[in-house]
Amino acid sequence: MKLSNGYDIPSVGFGTFKTPDGETCVESVKEALKVGYRHIDTAAYYGNEVSVGKGLRQSGLPREKVYITSKVWNTERGYDKTLRACEKTLRDLGTDYLDLYLIHWPANELQFGDKAEGINLDTWKALERLVDEKLVRSIGLSNFYPKHLAPILKKANVAPTVDQIEYHPGLLQEDTVALCRGNGILVEAWSPLGRGRILDKPLFAEIAGRYGKTPAQVILRWVLQKDILPLVKSVHAERIRENYEIFDFELSAGEMDAIDALPPQRLSGHPDEVTY
Ligand SMILES: NC(=O)c1ccc[n+]([C@@H]2O[C@H](COP(=O)([O-])OP(=O)(O)OC[C@H]3O[C@@H](n4cnc5c(N)ncnc54)[C@H](OP(=O)(O)O)[C@@H]3O)[C@@H](O)[C@H]2O)c1
Repeated sequence: MKLSNGYDIPSVGFGTFKTPDGETCVESVKEALKVGYRHIDTAAYYGNEVSVGKGLRQSGLPREKVYITSKVWNTERGYDKTLRACEKTLRDLGTDYLDLYLIHWPANELQFGDKAEGINLDTWKALERLVDEKLVRSIGLSNFYPKHLAPILKKANVAPTVDQIEYHPGLLQEDTVALCRGNGILVEAWSPLGRGRILDKPLFAEIAGRYGKTPAQVILRWVLQKDILPLVKSVHAERIRENYEIFDFELSAGEMDAIDALPPQRLSGHPDEVTY
């Protein structure tokens, strides 16, 4: 896929949230790179950036062949703290640049009242400086819904390229996707498999049977066909491989519609309601 600033981004990302730091993380990153993933999604909050960096180096792939995203955590918002947070992330990963750096969650009114918008803008300005300093190639947002995104769009000097949001069957996020599309922002889907909790719906087994695929593959394919970039996590070699084998079949329009019509289901916190 291509970002609005001209950089390419590999169309499936390997997730690392809740991947235990140490051997498990190193090995799963290596396995993902062996299978063919070229895009790793991590964050300071995940506490495993050192292991992600080790996995990357042990894979033998040159740094520039792998797309790396990280995110500034909620305790580090604001101009100066964000700059320092990025330095730490670079050190922990053992790299001198990030492909993509995101604000992990917007400051919300519930916690910050009328200061929320200013905090998000200050954090954004730090990301812009990181681009100027060539420490980061692209910048973007995560968990920013229209209300959080609009003020950034108004004031940004460097345009956001990505918004990473909870997205899976049952959570289509139409308003956010429409605003992103209208502004050239690529949407990334986190928890595309609903953390593994939505896989047993009969519709997925039925569609999967038609193609000799698995429910997880059907869901990831559905995300891709929506022109949204799935980020998918596993620490098991067979699932890491399974989740990448989604380029050799295509869902019909009817199948896409049937998945779209599944009942609403949010599995994680709404950005306006979280207190972290
Ligand atoms: N920006 C944000 O706020 C945010 C929030 C959440 C996630 N993310 C990013 O998005 C990535 C993906 O989201 P996620 O990790 O929450 O959820 P997910 O990828 O939807 O699901 C991961 C879960 O499903 C299981 N699983 C994976 N592949 C499977 C398969 N083929 N069959 C059966 N079960 C399977 C995994 O178990 P095993 O590992 O045991 O195989 C794990 O428990 C994260 O890792 C992270 O990088 C970002």
